[in-house]
Amino acid sequence: MDSVGSINHVFHRSKKISWPRISHGKGCCLFDTDGNEYLDACAGVHVVSIGHGVEEIVQAMADQARKVCFAYGQFISQSQIDLAEKIAAMSPGALNRVFFVSGGSEATESAMKIARKYHVETGNPSKYQIISRWQSWHGNTVGALSMSGRSAWRKDYTPYLLDFPHISPHSTDELERVIKQVGAEYISAFIAEPIFGTSCAALAPPDDYFPKVREICDRYNILLIIDEVVTGFGRTGVNFGIDHWDVVPDIMATGKGLSSGYTPIAATVATDDIYDAIFESSPAFVHGHTYGGNPLSCATALAVQQYIEKHDLISRCAAMGDLLLQSLEALRELPMVSAVRGKGLLSGIDLSHGKEADSPFDPALGVTARVVNRAFDGGVLVMPGAPGPIDGVNGDHIAISPPFTVTETEISRIVHVLKNAIISVAEEIGE
Ligand SMILES: Cc1ncc(COP(=O)(O)O)c(C=O)c1O
Repeated sequence: MDSVGSINHVFHRSKKISWPRISHGKGCCLFDTDGNEYLDACAGVHVVSIGHGVEEIVQAMADQARKVCFAYGQFISQSQIDLAEKIAAMSPGALNRVFFVSGGSEATESAMKIARKYHVETGNPSKYQIISRWQSWHGNTVGALSMSGRSAWRKDYTPYLLDFPHISPHSTDELERVIKQVGAEYISAFIAEPIFGTSCAALAPPDDYFPKVREICDRYNILLIIDEVVTGFGRTGVNFGIDHWDVVPDIMATGKGLSSGYTPIAATVATDDIYDAIFESSPAFVHGHTYGGNPLSCATALAVQQYIEKHDLISRCAAMGDLLLQSLEALRELPMVSAVRGKGLLSGIDLSHGKEADSPFDPALGVTARVVNRAFDGGVLVMPGAPGPIDGVNGDHIAISPPFTVTETEISRIVHVLKNAIISVAEEIGE
């Protein structure tokens, strides 16, 4: 499979002797250099919304690249201005000021600093802690990891992590109790994914959860940061995941679908109030990254968002999401399948012993990886859910999140291959 050259010098995040080598992508499919075709039913990692190899985007990238790819702090580019305008128009409420970065972790970490700077500038310098939720995921940099609740990915780095409180995923009582216990004067913000992405695919809270969270945050002068890195830009059938509850956050972190993977770019969006407060008393927000807002990435993401609008792909995502969920529902009759859920084209399946939600498999069995590998062998890419959705250690789950352009035939193929994968793993482990 390693057709040319050795991989000995690549420090990849997983150690494997042999990898399929990616050749190209078209629509919902990826192709390796041996000519194998894979149906990308997880959009990479919930990233590729418009499909692979869209000629209009490649053209927009080339057009911008011919003009200029990089210019730093002395300049602003038209593409940055236009993309900020587009994001502000799509964002809920008064979220109006867009700070560009290169990835989701930079976006959540920037949200953390924007919240802190806001409180410093508005006379509350003791506020610095961010409350977050166990099982949440906000990224791998130290600030983002400190806010994240994925135990398995935190453990080795615990000595570096900031001492931030974590609460149960969907308890507003606990949120208020922790605010009182720690003291609101120390709490800067609460961060949450509107619908879980990689930690517990497509798990949504009860309908009254976010309205109550909003009230609690307002009561204690705590900013509400919503992490839309997975759910943003249409993935759940509306512009942003939080739109399902008509709640307006103070700060929103975005990433992945902003450029559909055509270039690394992400953005943190804040309200005018926060922006004005920060700049009223200081001439600069002292934070930022070299590639933030570079003209090439902004032009690329702008072309992607214009393409989504032109082809009404968010409505399509909602419609195809309904179809995908309906089709996945049929898997409930299989052994091991204890839950099926979804919003738009973000869907998830839980796997457990005897189909009992509270009876997880021994993690050593590697059930998630086995199902993902079987599906891969059948030419369909689904995403392994991160370890520990139940309690940080236990729980197996799979995410299915194809591009918005997925067809009915492709949905049938995804469900068919996934069904066979689950049946074969169930047999293998004696379920
Ligand atoms: C909800 C959420 N926030 C933040 C991140 C971090 O994004 P990145 O990997 O681009 O740094 C991720 C990545 O999966 C995510 O799922």
